[in-house]
Amino acid sequence: MKSELRHPLAFVPTMGALHAGHQSLIKIAKQKCEEVVLSVFVNPLQFENKEDLAQYPRNIDGDIALAQSTGATFVWAPTFEEVYPGDPVIIPAGKIGNLFEGVHRFGHFDGVLTVVHRLFELIRPEYAIFGEKDFQQLFLINQMVRELELPVEIISAPIVREDDGLAMSSRNIRLSTDDRARATIIYKALCEANGSKDPARALQRVLSKEKNFQIDYAEIIDANTFEVATVATPNKRAIVAGWLSGVRLIDNMAMEMAMESSGALA
Ligand code: PAJ
Repeated sequence: MKSELRHPLAFVPTMGALHAGHQSLIKIAKQKCEEVVLSVFVNPLQFENKEDLAQYPRNIDGDIALAQSTGATFVWAPTFEEVYPGDPVIIPAGKIGNLFEGVHRFGHFDGVLTVVHRLFELIRPEYAIFGEKDFQQLFLINQMVRELELPVEIISAPIVREDDGLAMSSRNIRLSTDDRARATIIYKALCEANGSKDPARALQRVLSKEKNFQIDYAEIIDANTFEVATVATPNKRAIVAGWLSGVRLIDNMAMEMAMESSGALA
């Protein structure tokens, strides 16, 4: 760990295998501070599935080059012992941590909050940037910062997509050519839901067209509470997760048009 990090600094925590989504976070960080720290740490505590952990893509040399060419001033790839010198102090994600992603990845968000809290302790950033791609993660990190009164400002970054709409993800490189084409159904379903008066139904209807996509959940939620949305919910968000041949994909979208139509009904 570089002891002479210059403050104020902006921090971008990642698990590596960097892509344009991560680069967009670095660019946002750079607008805030000259010193931008990017961490690469595949945190075992947040992997409930050991196979997923073993298969998680790793490319540290490429990551360092990409992060530095995008504006990161320090790339930190700590060992497990550096992050957790003793027994980790687990930060419980609470009730919302057990919904949606938490149902399918039991204990995942306790692991995420534990590592993010620990990385904040080690780096003491003034700003930290997280993507809306992991919307529930972003929600829970904001909640942790509020409840524990951590001295850091969380900045959220919009989802970066491929030309055909697929949300960029380190896991996308594990998709076969056929599954890569099938994966576009998620973005199609989100867009269709957004244009519909009944977004929940539209989401399910479009997703069900792709038989190979095994849905974990596809719901419209209240972005402020993570409860399932009702007609009157003002900030609706569609959230989707599922599998294509053993590769897990997640995505989400604000239901801005659906919000307008439900406003008219309410
Ligand atoms: P990772 O999946 O590497 O993602 C690091 C950051 O990049 C997260 O904030 C994530 O939301 C953001 N991100 C990923 N894909 C994106 C995309 N297509 N558009 C915009 N942002 C995107 O999320 C994690 O790592 C870990 O859980 C971590 C927070 C580092 C804790 O271990």
